[in-house]
Amino acid sequence: MRIVLLGAPGSGKGTQAARLKTRLDIPHISTGDLLRAAVTAGTALGLRAKAVMESGQLVSDDLVLGMLEERLAQEDARGGFILDGFPRNLAQAEALDELLTRINQPMDHALQLEVDPELLIERLASRAQAEGRADDTPETVRARQQVYQQQTAPVIEHYARRGGLKRVDGVGDLDEVYERLLAALGA
Ligand code: AP5
Repeated sequence: MRIVLLGAPGSGKGTQAARLKTRLDIPHISTGDLLRAAVTAGTALGLRAKAVMESGQLVSDDLVLGMLEERLAQEDARGGFILDGFPRNLAQAEALDELLTRINQPMDHALQLEVDPELLIERLASRAQAEGRADDTPETVRARQQVYQQQTAPVIEHYARRGGLKRVDGVGDLDEVYERLLAALGA
């Protein structure tokens, strides 16, 4: 199963993808996690991405697309995957369509987790206290939300226009949201 999981920062994409991956036995591919790993490892990509991520802006399409293509070429992604945090703008959505056609892996499901903006801010503020993620400061959260509205919301429309986008209520406890996602996937 090939799935794109969409939603605003804090909507629960990473949390739910980690559960779905076990149930569906496919890898969870998060471009945010891949970039954070590159920052921690101090690779050339990580050095270029760090300041951009801390400002809440998007890392350049070329860097992210190259990283994703490499990840999708790995053996474990042959039988499907859950994409979390990609695509983030229309150029990435189009590049993904082209890439998946080229590797003969058409997308099966596009799911959007819907959560009210005030609740998103609360969730990210709690995570800032609990985990100290560098981009969970109030200013960066605001920037991430703006980037989402301006650049990522059109991606949702891109999938909606193509048909097959499923909107899933992301408010509720983790199990409730998980069950809704499974139902949307027919799994
Ligand atoms: P990325 O890591 O993708 O961050 P994000 O989209 O902002 O997403 P988050 O991880 O904050 O939220 P989430 O929806 O995964 O929610 P989560 O499950 O964590 O990207 C970070 C940065 O990397 C970007 O700003 C950009 O710079 C760069 N980047 C990444 N991809 C890129 C791309 N494709 N192109 C260019 N740049 C890119 O949950 C959030 C919190 O809420 C957690 O504490 C969780 O425990 C809690 N929570 C989750 N669900 C619930 C629930 N149901 N009830 C209560 N609490 C909940």
